[in-house]
Amino acid sequence: MPYTFAKSQALFERAQRSIAAGVNSGIRKMEAPVPLYFTHGRGPRIWDVDGNEFVDFKLGQGALLFGHAPEGMAEAIAAQARLGTHWAGQSELEIAVAERVQAMIPSAELVRFNNSATEVVGAAFRLARAATGRPLILRFEGHYHGWMDEGLVGFANPADRWGDDENPARTHPSKGVIPEVLDQFVVARWNDPEHLRRRVDEFRGKIAAIIFEPALCNTCCIEPVPGLMATIRELCDRDGMMMISDETITGFRFGASCAQGFYGYKPDLTILGKAIGGGTPFAALAGTRAAMAKVLSGEVVHAGTLNGNPLCLAASRWCLDQVIAQGDRHPAGVAALGRRLMEGLEALGRTHGVPLRPQGPGLIFHTVMLKPGAAEGRVLSYRDYVRRHDAPRWAHLRRCLLEQGVSAIERGLWSVSLTHTAADIDEALARAGAAFARHAATWTAPA
Ligand SMILES: Cc1ncc(COP(=O)(O)O)c(C=O)c1O
Repeated sequence: MPYTFAKSQALFERAQRSIAAGVNSGIRKMEAPVPLYFTHGRGPRIWDVDGNEFVDFKLGQGALLFGHAPEGMAEAIAAQARLGTHWAGQSELEIAVAERVQAMIPSAELVRFNNSATEVVGAAFRLARAATGRPLILRFEGHYHGWMDEGLVGFANPADRWGDDENPARTHPSKGVIPEVLDQFVVARWNDPEHLRRRVDEFRGKIAAIIFEPALCNTCCIEPVPGLMATIRELCDRDGMMMISDETITGFRFGASCAQGFYGYKPDLTILGKAIGGGTPFAALAGTRAAMAKVLSGEVVHAGTLNGNPLCLAASRWCLDQVIAQGDRHPAGVAALGRRLMEGLEALGRTHGVPLRPQGPGLIFHTVMLKPGAAEGRVLSYRDYVRRHDAPRWAHLRRCLLEQGVSAIERGLWSVSLTHTAADIDEALARAGAAFARHAATWTAPA
């Protein structure tokens, strides 16, 4: 029987009387049929208040590389809580975490800690502008860099305001943004090195940095085409711009040396979030000594009461030790499980006549639902995705999956953890089989 969510529904109604719109992050309202209320998790599984058990591929928006509630991390946090939850001062623990990051990521000669990647993005932009004396940041359509004014310019340009292919618009999805912020960005299309070159040339001498998600996880999990990273590096070196790798999602998920090791490039600055804290509010800016110079000199302000919070540090040290202990098994093991799931989902699509096309490196992947008549083949850019992905049909299937106990991120992103096993994947596929059958039987395209 499909799951029902009566207790979550009741809690959501109660929540709306005290919490604005009932949720603490706008995106959580997308959960259909209702935002779920959870009681506990263990490894690759999570349970809600209705007693429903899910094989979880949402994993706290990808943060839980080490699964839910790992014993060792709970002990590390509890031991630290007994010593102190917050000092706003120094501890050997912060050096221990910084040294682990340094040892794993060649470009991370120095680090600074924050509590969210959104903050770190702001710090990186400030640093790049201070170092170069230039105003503009170049970013790519569909890439997400946090929820503040600067992180969202051109992120999800609506199709009726795309602008032409050569000159993507700088729209912002939020009201209340400082209007001049939009003028500080150049937006380019992802995965077109020649277009990027033209974009940089057009604004040559005014661009402080190029920022990107190395694999575009926030839109369709689009890996970089061969040569793209080398082009970004070449242009940054040529024009004295900083190359900022936003590894909030890919950091440590793509291996100890992150996506920059996986794809083989060396950025000036790296944004780390999610897995570095294993679900605690922890994030880091890492960079070469040269890129961090203005922090060293104190000319760039970087601050925060809770930076280097010992509870987060204790969790992070535990997480990073897990990555180190994995050695060569990571990321190959997670990638293999992810591919097993991708292949299984695609096969279910074929069996049930559902045009679902998983894409990504397995470590994380996206399920594209092709619109009727849409071309086959890998999606390569944000616009390509909007043109080909059938969002309402995916939302219907995703709800069927949830009701069978398989949880993926609402917009179609799936993450695998170090705690998933082949048996978990096969169980998820068995559950998904029932969801595909129900979807195929009940889906009707809107007129
Ligand atoms: C690539 C990327 N950058 C930045 C952020 C912002 O991270 P946070 O939500 O921790 O502020 C996210 C969040 O999902 C992200 O995916």
